[in-house]
Amino acid sequence: MTTTTDILARPHRFEPATAPGRPPLLLLHGTGGDETDLLPLGRTLAPEAALLSPRGSVLENGMPRFFRRLREGVFDEADLARRTDELAEFIAAARAEYGLAAPVAVGFSNGANIAAALLLRHPGVLAGGVLLRAMRPFAAAPAPARSGTPVLLLSGAMDPIVPAANSEGLATDLERVGARVTRQVLPASHGLTQSDLRITAEWLAAEAQAFSGSSTET
Ligand code: MLT
Repeated sequence: MTTTTDILARPHRFEPATAPGRPPLLLLHGTGGDETDLLPLGRTLAPEAALLSPRGSVLENGMPRFFRRLREGVFDEADLARRTDELAEFIAAARAEYGLAAPVAVGFSNGANIAAALLLRHPGVLAGGVLLRAMRPFAAAPAPARSGTPVLLLSGAMDPIVPAANSEGLATDLERVGARVTRQVLPASHGLTQSDLRITAEWLAAEAQAFSGSSTET
């Protein structure tokens, strides 16, 4: 049987909040990153919030990722489903251990893809999601549901990894599970820009009320 201690043995960083009432951020790095990568971004976006940052548990040529892929943009969906369920378990264990409200995920690239998978497979686990350069994680359309979770999806018009039709499809999938999606296509490639940071910070501030009122599963 997997215990909470086993689940929390997963490499991660936790930084407590310095003021009450801020939703915690769940930071999910890109391929080749680790649990330290997005801490500065999280601190910039939400200076007083708790930050929870797990490391992806798959290695591809020594580079951490959150799930296996068969090749660029083609995912091992069975592994993705399993890793998504493990991440949902990690979030529940970390919430209990650190006394956290439901987090808002901020994911980049591979981290955004597993955040999208979480929103689709476990619609109640996140209070919200910021998906930076995300793709559709599962080929099949999800079963309709009504989560109401706010999601910001920022895509790059010149992104060589994520075709526009794919991120549009992701927005449709998320809406199918009841997410309230704000999608913007920026004049950018796969990398993040100052516009990503500004739009994300503005969106987090605008949705603050929605996060504090969210009643999500643990
Ligand atoms: C993925 O594999 O999740 C996407 O292709 C993004 C990447 O990590 O390159």
